[in-house]
Amino acid sequence: MIGKKMQEAINEQIKHELESAYLYLSMAAYFHSEGLDGMAQWMRAQTQEELVHAMKFFDHIRDRDGRVELLPLAQPKREWTSPLQAFQEAYQHEQFISSKIDGLVKLAAAEGDHPASILLQWFVTEQVEEEASTSKVAQMLERIGDSGHGLVMLDRELGTRSFTASTTEGGTE
Ligand code: FEO
Repeated sequence: MIGKKMQEAINEQIKHELESAYLYLSMAAYFHSEGLDGMAQWMRAQTQEELVHAMKFFDHIRDRDGRVELLPLAQPKREWTSPLQAFQEAYQHEQFISSKIDGLVKLAAAEGDHPASILLQWFVTEQVEEEASTSKVAQMLERIGDSGHGLVMLDRELGTRSFTASTTEGGTE
């Protein structure tokens, strides 16, 4: 059975993952409103990944005879000044999530909670990819600058991202 401290911390992380989904869905709505449907598609796929992350934690608590508690979600931001700003914020958000995963890793070690430690190893690897994928797009947008043609090309490329079950095993693109 999962310990009380770990259960509380994982319930908190479920909220962070759901808020991530909420943020990226809001970014998808922003991109659609800007006519950038490819970037919107990328964010929609990202939203689905975040739901998978939340459910991995949900099932971990359930499998260990714990009790999931769903906490209130913050309303996400709805406007950004540019695609670059949105992706920069996505990258910053992933760095924030990585810091939360690091905290959970430390707690699991302190509690001697080996099942949680093993689950969290997956998330440590996943966060490396999450940071890399958002950072990569932000860097491309920086390089593109004011080029309308470059933006159209990148939008087309990002629109090829789709969510499949296999992406839940670590891939983000
Ligand atoms: Fe679930 Fe993007 O971290």
